[in-house]
Amino acid sequence: MPMPTPAAVRSKIRRSYDDRPYPAADESVLTNPGCKIAPLEWIDALSRPGRESVQPRRILVAGCGTGSEAFSLRRRVPSAGIVAVDFSPRSISIALRLAQRAPEMRGIRFVVADLASPRLAATIGRGFDFISCHGVLSYVPEPERALGNLARCLTPDGALYLGVNGSTHPSVGWRQALSGFGIDVENFRDTRRLREILRACDAISFHDSQSRLSTESAAHLAGDLFGACIHNLPLTEWLRVARVAGLSLCGSYSCGHSLGPLCRRSLTRVLMPRSRAEFCELEEMLIPASFHRLLFMRKPPANPPWDDVDALLAWCPIRTRLHHTALPLRGRSWHALRPVRYRSTAPGTRIDLRIPEWEAEILRESDGSRSLRDILGKIPVTIPAPLLREQLYILYLLIVIDLLPPTPVTDR
Ligand SMILES: C[S@@+](CC[C@H](N)C(=O)[O-])C[C@H]1O[C@@H](n2cnc3c(N)ncnc32)[C@H](O)[C@@H]1O
Repeated sequence: MPMPTPAAVRSKIRRSYDDRPYPAADESVLTNPGCKIAPLEWIDALSRPGRESVQPRRILVAGCGTGSEAFSLRRRVPSAGIVAVDFSPRSISIALRLAQRAPEMRGIRFVVADLASPRLAATIGRGFDFISCHGVLSYVPEPERALGNLARCLTPDGALYLGVNGSTHPSVGWRQALSGFGIDVENFRDTRRLREILRACDAISFHDSQSRLSTESAAHLAGDLFGACIHNLPLTEWLRVARVAGLSLCGSYSCGHSLGPLCRRSLTRVLMPRSRAEFCELEEMLIPASFHRLLFMRKPPANPPWDDVDALLAWCPIRTRLHHTALPLRGRSWHALRPVRYRSTAPGTRIDLRIPEWEAEILRESDGSRSLRDILGKIPVTIPAPLLREQLYILYLLIVIDLLPPTPVTDR
């Protein structure tokens, strides 16, 4: 049998979402955060470290379904102009109907459009400084085309958030298992037999613990488990797709869980001079994700020169707003170790470290306006260069600080 064309697969997927709009067709979509995009604080810290927290002005929600993602962004960024796009006309008409019921949602522009269409930018416009595309590209036959279109709609320093399935997504094994029971995994049919098989698979997979696919809604199963195309890809593959689209990785919200143990065991120096993005690639090799929450920009983020301390001293540290860091009051001894807690509400992490007073002072002075050399000039002790870069590297990986490159001296 000839392979179906990408256009034929897309039509099949669109029909499936028209039959069962996602996440639901009722009022719950208006209030339920449902869609779990990465926190805006994390996105902000990675994409705009050097600037005051500037709320995005124009937001595109790519593949918005019945509107949950757009409604939750409207609540978080009330001042932004939001355009929300989906190729399922039924999903868009439900989103429009729901938006009419909540006055603050009426300004969202809902549009029927195919993300893979060459006319996308002409239909929705360009100049978006934030694009959110959660749980969509895994179901697009040629994700490069759709992502290329999105990249063209982004401002030069805008950020694009992508939520996509990883290589260990449960659907990999579940689709195989269901096929073994003679179930057609490309076409969802909500039968009593299917639910019984799902209950058996639940019992095998989760024993008595919480996760239950057999009780999921038809919309959820039709979208996440069944369907004509599901890309469950490792990070390297999504990065290849992004490169084709002209996008560079800034960070992965699904990664970083190993940073606490690495810091506590003083092992971060082994990772130098990897950028944050390269660290994510390393972590993915060792513990592949089931779902990736990735942040991209058109310009590759600058990685400080970790191998060259002299060059590093010209960079300007700036504390991000991702962490609440309670810094100790100034102490007397520059080498005394002081307890510091980095607590981030966004990634839900809390890391307790003991840092020397000179490092606490660097943190106090890290507002992006002074180079490390200037800050250290006011600290009257000699700090061994390897120790300095190691401590700064930890702060950089944890996104406690960013480092801004020196501005080039221009000829008059
Ligand atoms: C799993 S839902 C996710 C909805 C929403 N992003 C959320 O997380 O709540 C995927 C959505 O992507 C839409 N979609 C899939 N392929 C698309 C394409 N090529 N163009 C536009 N929308 C698409 C589907 O119609 C569906 O509404």
